[in-house]
Amino acid sequence: MARYPVPSHVIESIDAADLRGFGAAHLARRAANRRTIARLSEKLNAVFDSGVPFFTKDAIRDIVRQLDELAVNPNPRVHTVRKFIVRGLDDCVVELRVPLGRVHPYRDLPDVDIVDAKLLVRFRPIDHLTSTTRRFADEFNIEHAFLPMVVEPRPVQLHSVTNDYVPQYPVLPLEAVQATLQRKRTEWESSSACQQLLSTLRSAAIPDVRRIVAFACFNMSDCEMAERSACQHALLLILRKFFAERQRIAEEDIVCFAQDPLYEDVDKKVLAGAGISVVENPRAFLEVDDASLVLSISPETPVRQIVADIAQPAVMIWNRVEEVEQHAEWIGQTEWYGPPFQIFY
Ligand SMILES: C[S@@+](CC[C@H](N)C(=O)[O-])C[C@H]1O[C@@H](n2cnc3c(N)ncnc32)[C@H](O)[C@@H]1O
Repeated sequence: MARYPVPSHVIESIDAADLRGFGAAHLARRAANRRTIARLSEKLNAVFDSGVPFFTKDAIRDIVRQLDELAVNPNPRVHTVRKFIVRGLDDCVVELRVPLGRVHPYRDLPDVDIVDAKLLVRFRPIDHLTSTTRRFADEFNIEHAFLPMVVEPRPVQLHSVTNDYVPQYPVLPLEAVQATLQRKRTEWESSSACQQLLSTLRSAAIPDVRRIVAFACFNMSDCEMAERSACQHALLLILRKFFAERQRIAEEDIVCFAQDPLYEDVDKKVLAGAGISVVENPRAFLEVDDASLVLSISPETPVRQIVADIAQPAVMIWNRVEEVEQHAEWIGQTEWYGPPFQIFY
């Protein structure tokens, strides 16, 4: 059974809408997949309940090694298959075959194609592996049923002629991003929320913090998300200063890492200027240790589950998942945001 079942009325209305859109054969396949997932869930839940970690640094390191060993692809539109070897929770070894080079049949901008040109390491916690929602039932592949980590194609935008990478949104200039980060830091530092957070930290017995690892803070160069993202990066800087003062060490003695697949070059430069190293997914997980502070607000990857398996960080800051009433009219409507966006359910 699914670890965190979705209410049946949500599943039923999504299926009813999809029956009209995709047809009966698709729904029959989805139903069959659901039965298989339910059957395998017993074993997956038993593994989880026995305390076996789904995620280990060794397994993440092994994927990173395989990524590092890949030859550079000179033409991102040429069809290639990248192979990875991963071990499942049933202890079986699986070869993942990841096709690259597909050009998607639609585009958002003229002269810009969406191409499966990059790779994405996806983490699959117990709630994903046992889920029978539309997303997980439709993408179900029995060979991957016990894999907590898979590698998938990652679509990116490339110019149709030059093949140059094109960001998804207009990217703000470096000076603007720097200025927003600075302003957000000043605003945050004087806010009551920040004072409350620091006073909570002051009153707690916390082991020494020697590194800060931030996940999923979004990119500050995206005009729509700039302020919110800068706020989260500013918090990282405030926390570094707080712990440096508390531990009577220099700020540079607390190393900082940030991981979000959305960072553009501008973000990387601004963050480097602030003493924060941007690392590619999934490398930041390898940086987390017991002397770390982990910061992660609404990530689209199961940061808490992974971190809980690989380390016991000194501090972890996250936001609570809130139950929200789903708008009745939205149930069963579109949750598919075609690449390069992600599918959420
Ligand atoms: C819902 S947004 C939240 C962004 C931001 N923290 C906020 O509160 O607005 C989810 C974020 O998770 C990021 N993300 C997805 N996969 C990730 C990964 N493997 N590591 C780090 N960040 C990831 C996305 O790029 C995106 O920025």
